[in-house]
Amino acid sequence: MPSTPLPAVDDLTLEEKCRLLGGASTWRTHPIERVGIPAVKMSDGPNGVRGDGLGARRTPGVVIPVGIAVGATWNPSLAAELGDLLGTESRRKGAHVLLAPTVNLQRTPIGGRVFECLSEDPELTARLAVPLVEAVQAHDVAVTVKHFVANDTEIDRMSVDVDVDDRVLRELYLRPFEATVTEAAAWGIMSAYNQRGGEHCAASRELLTGILRDEWGFDGFVVSDWYGSHDTVASIRAGLTVPMPGPSTIYGERLQAAVEAGDVEEPLVDAQVEDLLRLMARVRVTERDSEQAEETVDDPAERALCRRAVVEGLVLCRNEDAALPIPPGASVAVIGPNAEDTRIMGGGSASLQALPNRSLLQALADRAASVVHEPGVRIDRLPPPLTEEVLRTPDGEPGLRVDYRDGLDPDSPVVVTDVTPETMLRFFGSTPEGVDPERFHVTVTGTFVPERSGTHLLSAVLTGAGRIEVGDVAVLEDPDRQLPRGPLFFGFGSEEQEAAIECEAGVAVPIRITTTGRGGYAAIRLGVRAPEPPDMIARAVAAARDADVAVVVVGTNDEWETEGEDRTTIALPGDQDELVRRVAEANPRTVVVVNAGSPVSMPWVDDVAAVLLAYFGGMEMADGVVDVLLGDADPGGRLPLTYPEALEDTPAWRWYAPVDGVQHYGEGLLMGYRGFDAAGTVPLFPFGHGLSYGDADWGAASLSSDSIRAGDPVELTVPVQATGERAATVVVQAYLSGPDGFGRPPKVLAGFAKVTVAPGTEEPVVVTIPPEAFRRWDGDGWVVDEGTWEVVVAASATDVRQRLHLEVG
Ligand code: BGC
Repeated sequence: MPSTPLPAVDDLTLEEKCRLLGGASTWRTHPIERVGIPAVKMSDGPNGVRGDGLGARRTPGVVIPVGIAVGATWNPSLAAELGDLLGTESRRKGAHVLLAPTVNLQRTPIGGRVFECLSEDPELTARLAVPLVEAVQAHDVAVTVKHFVANDTEIDRMSVDVDVDDRVLRELYLRPFEATVTEAAAWGIMSAYNQRGGEHCAASRELLTGILRDEWGFDGFVVSDWYGSHDTVASIRAGLTVPMPGPSTIYGERLQAAVEAGDVEEPLVDAQVEDLLRLMARVRVTERDSEQAEETVDDPAERALCRRAVVEGLVLCRNEDAALPIPPGASVAVIGPNAEDTRIMGGGSASLQALPNRSLLQALADRAASVVHEPGVRIDRLPPPLTEEVLRTPDGEPGLRVDYRDGLDPDSPVVVTDVTPETMLRFFGSTPEGVDPERFHVTVTGTFVPERSGTHLLSAVLTGAGRIEVGDVAVLEDPDRQLPRGPLFFGFGSEEQEAAIECEAGVAVPIRITTTGRGGYAAIRLGVRAPEPPDMIARAVAAARDADVAVVVVGTNDEWETEGEDRTTIALPGDQDELVRRVAEANPRTVVVVNAGSPVSMPWVDDVAAVLLAYFGGMEMADGVVDVLLGDADPGGRLPLTYPEALEDTPAWRWYAPVDGVQHYGEGLLMGYRGFDAAGTVPLFPFGHGLSYGDADWGAASLSSDSIRAGDPVELTVPVQATGERAATVVVQAYLSGPDGFGRPPKVLAGFAKVTVAPGTEEPVVVTIPPEAFRRWDGDGWVVDEGTWEVVVAASATDVRQRLHLEVG
């Protein structure tokens, strides 16, 4: 596309300006052809770029480890490499704007998007988000740092009113946003769904103009979260640039009417148009067509980076008697539901169609000496969708046939025929060419061939009107979209409808689904649960008994951990705790791999030999985990949040539930490890914890100066020696304890440095403590308290190695 200059704001009419700001469709802004303004394309998200997809089909893409796993790397330069990859992928998917990163804080372990966020700590979040943002933007792709602000749980997320003290907001929840704006010059911010102080974030002038633009000097654009803006006049006054998604938003015609009625002054509109034009220039919108074909690239170097990122984020929490690494030649019983169904990402808008990836079972079977497998238990929340292995189109191809009609009339001609590989179809604002994504009709037909005989449970959910038939059973019938809404598909899905049918192994059962898509988001889910043998745990125990090592892969999946819904418990779903206990009784060398995106409780922790947290590790997860299990790589991760023994121990837990619509952040500054410290509560595993296969000794720490002036940085140096036969991964953490009397938490992370020390060598590990680490918000601005501070040198929030005094004057 030839590069043409963008017009100035004065070249546009009022109608054009208002249209430009009102989103056009699910992912694009309006082009204004008369003056040569093309559309801007935006795409989710934080662990890979989803692109548009084509209805039932999505464009496969790179999937990096999810946010919490990046948080666990404690490695800013790796975050930059991952940002670089996300920038490359954004270009391949034709996106000018990447809807990422998510920098809300992991205030409670049950938050539905804990997996998507980097850490419970604002400074760790900031140190990782800043290089990531810079690296994405180096590709002329904008980020939208999200969700601004205090969207830390999913409960009543569209309406909940967060009541958070100014100091707490500044020192904790705003901090990652501040850093990405002031240090990385982020080009975009996404406002949050929730309210704060009785005002929706997308309509808050204090947030979007006062803090963001006036204080921090932000000159990018602000996009609303999808369907998260409600008030035309308040939002344009606040400084919201683009409400999304289109075609019908609070701007466009409504904004024009508000200007013409005298409720909005035109310069307010102009200011946002200028911000959007600046964004367009930055992302070179005139050189990159938003309709370019989406490209899938499978590059071994990118896979290698993803695998390294997995290894760097793996947290070895416990390793008794050097249970890990698995010795060469050992026979391994691979047990647990997530061994075969390894989960590489969570649910919601951060999910995408991954490039080919394999399960932990496949990777271990390839690389360990001898492997047997037993799932032990199942953890599906609902009967799982069927996949192409058991589906056949009417022509006998793998999958089901999808016939699209343009418009809602089921008798109109079929415009496009496609094949879906599974019975979960998410249209997410995209349909094949010739089919209006806002108004379409689909028919899905074919058969499924059961692998077992017996009673199969059926589960059906539709977002639109329609019908789902399996065999001669109508599982869901909702011609007028009368069914109440349930939790699925961001609350757009119907309540789950259930039925049962008798099946015979190998005998095909017809499937027929008809439904409509209206207004951007449409989805179909048909799940089928085959009968299971009754003795699954006993079989797993027998397999464990006969093996040298039992690797139990427990966890959750994208239906337990998803945007739109918090968990209600940190317990592992299903009978997994029982499975681990029984396996550990049978085999003393039981290694538990936790494949979950947020903390789970581990009532069996003292009975097992090792615990390795694998999170949702993206497309190279399996081989990265096996690298560590077999000792080819060192587990590099440290916990980016506290793992509580019980949910009730988490400081924010008692303030979790909104009261009369208000969620009070009553724990204040004592969130996460700060609260555990203050209360003296012993966690299951502390913030910052993680073991290396290598042994290390820390020598005497020193500061670059033992007295500084407010506003100066200070450097901490710790000589670290690797004393064993293996290289040691070390993360030196520097916490600050300030002078008493100012309501501070006992200590706060101020800086950190991660190194790998070669066996028999010593390295000086240098941690920079920036001036911002000494700040306190006193109501009107930042102050630094003079006096004696303590630099706490630690390997985790509870493993304190040394304390140094520092005078701040
Ligand atoms: C999420 C955002 C996401 C947007 C677009 C919303 O539901 O909260 O994080 O970017 O959808 O998919």
